[in-house]
Amino acid sequence: MSEFEILKKMLMADRSVRRFDASKPIGRDVLEQLVDLTRYCGSGRNLQPLKYRLVYDAAECGEVFPALKWAGYLTDWDGPQESERPVAYMVQCLDLRLTENLLCDDGIQLQAITLGACALGIAGCIIKSFNVAKLRDVLGLEDCYKPLYVLALGCPAETVEIETMSGGLDADVKYYRTPDGVHHVPKRPLSELIIR
Ligand SMILES: Cc1cc2nc3c(=O)[nH]c(=O)nc-3n(C[C@H](O)[C@H](O)[C@H](O)COP(=O)(O)O)c2cc1C
Repeated sequence: MSEFEILKKMLMADRSVRRFDASKPIGRDVLEQLVDLTRYCGSGRNLQPLKYRLVYDAAECGEVFPALKWAGYLTDWDGPQESERPVAYMVQCLDLRLTENLLCDDGIQLQAITLGACALGIAGCIIKSFNVAKLRDVLGLEDCYKPLYVLALGCPAETVEIETMSGGLDADVKYYRTPDGVHHVPKRPLSELIIR
């Protein structure tokens, strides 16, 4: 398989997962390896202003969980039950002492981390919808760190499938779950992504 094919395969496998095997912990060493990947990412003005608060202790994971909001489109689902909750979190923070004006470093780094996690058999979900005050409080985050995203991590306990959607501007972008428990994610076709 060519390097391009390997990369494409990894991107296709790197799906947002929201149900995990809570009996399989992830150690600090693994999380540190994932942070290490971000050192090789591009950075606007090369400031490298993003830092990570690592959460892997079961009790602390239990405190982070209530601050998070899950799967806005799955309106009849309140998030993973206890046996399917994330076993680790990486809280991506902007170090305000370095800059208050971030370019797109956040997304670039999150993608590098999720790809790295996927290569290790770990799944994740990038979460933007969270209670900032609550998260700050439970993690004792200093004022100089502005939490931007929470990456929830664990060994996957759900199947996620990509669907190619059609319908152009009117297409339904909502992900959904079928009775067999499979999570389906619609993606726009290539033909709609290239401006003619
Ligand atoms: C910037 C960003 C913010 C997101 N925030 C949330 C969130 O707050 N809660 C959640 O359950 N999923 C969140 N997601 C996951 C998206 O819902 C998910 O990426 C989308 O449904 C497509 O699925 P895929 O990641 O498998 O391609 C977020 C993803 C991104 C990239």
